[in-house]
Amino acid sequence: MKNVNNNELRIKDIGRKVTLYGFVANKRKMGELTFIDLRDRWGITQIVIKGNNQKISKESVLKVTGIVIERQDKNKNLPTGEIEIESKEIEVLSSAEQLPFIVHDDLEAKEETRLRHRYLDLRRPKMMKNLVLRHKVNKLIRDFLDSQEFLEIETPILSKSTPEGARDFLVPTRKKGKFFALPQSPQLYKQLLMASGVEKYFQIVRAFRDEDSRKDRQPEFTQLDIEMSYASEEDVINLVEKLFKYIFEKLGRNLSFPIQRMEFDEAMNRFGSDKPDLRFGNELKDATEIFANTSFNAFKKAEKIKYIFVDEILNKKHIKILEEEAKKNGAKGLAWSTIDLELNQKLGPGYKFFEEEINQILTLNEKQQGSILLVADTNDISNKSLGAVRTKIGEIFKYTDKKEDKLVWITNWPLYECDEENKTFSSAHHPFTSPSLDTLDSFDIDKKNAKSRAYDLVMNGYEIGGGSVRINSLEIQKRIFDSLNISKQQANKQFGFFLEAFKFGLPPHSGIAFGIDRLIMILTNSQSIRDVIAFPKNANGIAIMENAPSITSKEQLDEYFIMEINEE
Ligand code: AMO
Ligand code: AMP
Repeated sequence: MKNVNNNELRIKDIGRKVTLYGFVANKRKMGELTFIDLRDRWGITQIVIKGNNQKISKESVLKVTGIVIERQDKNKNLPTGEIEIESKEIEVLSSAEQLPFIVHDDLEAKEETRLRHRYLDLRRPKMMKNLVLRHKVNKLIRDFLDSQEFLEIETPILSKSTPEGARDFLVPTRKKGKFFALPQSPQLYKQLLMASGVEKYFQIVRAFRDEDSRKDRQPEFTQLDIEMSYASEEDVINLVEKLFKYIFEKLGRNLSFPIQRMEFDEAMNRFGSDKPDLRFGNELKDATEIFANTSFNAFKKAEKIKYIFVDEILNKKHIKILEEEAKKNGAKGLAWSTIDLELNQKLGPGYKFFEEEINQILTLNEKQQGSILLVADTNDISNKSLGAVRTKIGEIFKYTDKKEDKLVWITNWPLYECDEENKTFSSAHHPFTSPSLDTLDSFDIDKKNAKSRAYDLVMNGYEIGGGSVRINSLEIQKRIFDSLNISKQQANKQFGFFLEAFKFGLPPHSGIAFGIDRLIMILTNSQSIRDVIAFPKNANGIAIMENAPSITSKEQLDEYFIMEINEE
């Protein structure tokens, strides 16, 4: 067993005889001497070997016994940089072959290669730091919630479909035609734990959703799941703020409390997003009035004309990227004007088709030089597409670099999401979310204006958590199912076990769940949640190291009564 780590020895240890273990991070030969950087989870210590002829390759595992000596050319960037180990005995415990990539923080290997040899990738100090922080945050969560008398209770993984809006992963069984579903969240179980009298529940738990991976999305991810009885939205918000205060303080990270709140409609109107990044401005402004008498056809008939102003003078390349972004989000086009006072140059279709209106916008604006981007469409599309353009601008011009974290609660959500094409409604959160008190009588008649008691926590433009006050009246729960066109039979088949609990005393309750991977991604400044998960799936949802999912044998399929259909 090791008793000294590679980040530990200092000047005061000079003369000590020690045994160190670790991977060969680097090796340099200088005449008679060989220098090795020996790396373990904690750090690096330099080893000096005199007259060594042993073949030692990078990433081999060594046991080194030697004496701590003072280093001649000290390395100020290394905590152990004032000392080195004069090796007396060196043993190669495991020798490494030619490496697929160099294990280094600034590596340029493709992600696929990193994932294929994930154990090598995780040896990189940056990745190890992510794992350490993740562990720390999980521990802080557990410590804090334990101090508030929350119980961590495990819920089943082999279970029944939960309606969180994604596709289920199914698990076949040896009971003919019968499948388990992996939970998209423990939603129904945690509500049943409130019916069980637990009152304060939490769990750091895996959730499974068969949806396309993105940089902030994985098919299996980890939630901090919380549920509380006799609690309103204020109680949940208060608890979460205390939890975040505790975590941030322990991590030595600044955050101001209370966390700002913003209603959903305001977020959409001002930022064009239900997860606005408040680390920069560039808010969406309404120009519908200004264009009231426009002769430009595309703008004449539009319900809403919105614009954003950017300090930079955008070039053709920027405009192309932003136009694509606007169109991807439903806009028919993105009109633009650039105003360069130094060159006395005003460019863009904006200037060609509606110079007067652009000048009016400029008179309302603080700054006269920069760029204006406009979308004319329905209110929703103008907001959403310009919101996406705003996010892209933040990325292009690095508006968020080195900015303080910005958290915001988004409240007063719509109860339903409307699919405009098919004219169907689905739950904006999930069907166990209580309608707002104001729309309790009308929610199923006037779905477009129905509001819910849901809340999301947004950090730096990412949705890191979401929850709601739950329905605890069977009558309202049934009205919700009716309004979603879920028949009585269907509801009983899918949620019967849950609905039954309403009949035997169900305390009023509320809860929330956080995406732990997303939170750690933000806290570690990582580019993707894959960088904070030890063994993630790649962008196509495939575990490429172990090659899963993979084809299974005919015998196994037979056991599960599954027949493969070979499509022509
Ligand atoms: P929701 O669906 O909003 O709510 O999920 C909660 C949080 O989990 C994170 N998240 C994800 N992270 C990584 N990959 C994914 N595919 C993914 N999907 C979601 C997000 C999100 O905010 N049962 C409800 C919570 C409740 O009502 O209490 C739920 O699961 O950060
Ligand atoms: P067109 O007349 O369609 O060639 O459009 C002229 C310019 O106006 C182009 O830069 C388009 O991107 C832009 N444009 C067209 N329709 C819209 C719209 N609905 N909202 C914003 N810009 C638009």
